[in-house]
Amino acid sequence: MWPLVAALLLSSFCSGSAQLLFNKTKSVEFTFCNETVVIPCFVINVGAQNTNEMYVKWKFKGKYIFIYDGGQDNATMDSNFSSAKIAVSELLKGDASLKMDKRDAKVGNYTCEVTELTREGETVIELKYRVVSWFSPNENILVVIFPILAILLFWGQFGILTLKYKSNCTNKKIILLLIAGLLLTTIVIVGAILFVPGEYSVKNASGLGFIVISTGVLILLQYNVFMTAFGMTSFTIAILITQVLGYVLAVVGLCLCIMACIPVHGPLLISGLGIIALAELLGLVYMKFVASNQRTIQAPRKAVEEPLNAFKESKGMMNDE
Ligand SMILES: *[C@@H]1O[C@H](CO)[C@@H](O)[C@H](O)[C@H]1NC(C)=O
Ligand SMILES: *[C@@H]1O[C@H](CO)[C@@H](O)[C@H](O)[C@H]1NC(C)=O
Ligand SMILES: *[C@@H]1O[C@H](CO)[C@@H](O)[C@H](O)[C@H]1NC(C)=O
Ligand SMILES: *[C@@H]1O[C@H](CO)[C@@H](O)[C@H](O)[C@H]1NC(C)=O
Ligand SMILES: *[C@@H]1O[C@H](CO)[C@@H](O)[C@H](O)[C@H]1NC(C)=O
Repeated sequence: MWPLVAALLLSSFCSGSAQLLFNKTKSVEFTFCNETVVIPCFVINVGAQNTNEMYVKWKFKGKYIFIYDGGQDNATMDSNFSSAKIAVSELLKGDASLKMDKRDAKVGNYTCEVTELTREGETVIELKYRVVSWFSPNENILVVIFPILAILLFWGQFGILTLKYKSNCTNKKIILLLIAGLLLTTIVIVGAILFVPGEYSVKNASGLGFIVISTGVLILLQYNVFMTAFGMTSFTIAILITQVLGYVLAVVGLCLCIMACIPVHGPLLISGLGIIALAELLGLVYMKFVASNQRTIQAPRKAVEEPLNAFKESKGMMNDE
């Protein structure tokens, strides 16, 4: 008797007359970077030969949010999930995964119900959201530290300029440098405040933009500090070229980081900022060196500026006459 019952049960189970089986996935997660979100639902024992034998329903919080009626080849979706769709061409392979735009994706448990002629089955998948930081913690620190260091070094140069080269330079130039330096410092501080660690957002992207773009001003400032102090030498030219290269790297890195949701080019941006700071340091060291040798080394400034001034003056005088 018992073997008969067992055999009957077994045969009905094996014929699978009632159940569709799923390749189970407990949960999937998405981040800020997923444009579209796919909730997987794979039937592993599809028997249907035509999609018109199939019926797919997706349920969220007890409510049907998406229904595909194969007989009518008609899909309807809830207005809160207007972007939801399934790939009908994949249905016969058992793929009833629901795709939707990130804006429609809500975290929670989704139920995938598939019916195929007389067989049916369902599976539950939890959709989770994971917060990913735009930059890694170390990168966040370096992105802010390097520009601030570079600005401090600029103020060091400015200090040397006002203390050691007072006689050489006009007050007007000093005041302009002071104003530009203060402006730059303010912009970088504002940028650093906006650039809070966390997910990519317009806010921290613009903070990063402020920081990186404004470091270009350092090149102009350093050039003017050199010109005011002792003019161009091959060493200062090399420093400025290094700084321009650093700036180009930083700006290219910035563009790549803003375009990609996950900034794989963070190191490029950071090395650019590092080079800018290094050039600023070299400038400061060089100024200190030249300043301490001031008596022995005659400032080549006159050679550059005097002919120019003389030219201007002569022009002015000619106009006066
Ligand atoms: C989000 O994107 C990642 C990487 O592209 C992918 O592996 C993951 O499956 C996506 N998540 C969802 C829910 O679609
Ligand atoms: C089940 O899922 C795994 C990974 O999710 C996949 O590699 C495998 O091919 C799937 N099997 C079937 C029968 O769909
Ligand atoms: C799909 O079904 C809905 C109701 O379920 C109906 O209002 C709509 O007209 C149908 N669309 C098509 C193209 O059959
Ligand atoms: C859409 O979602 C809102 C809030 O999440 C809810 O109040 C509303 O009833 C939903 N609309 C539909 C059609 O489900
Ligand atoms: C989804 O279901 C799982 C298992 O039943 C449960 O642990 C989890 O809390 C549910 N998630 C949500 C967001 O309701």
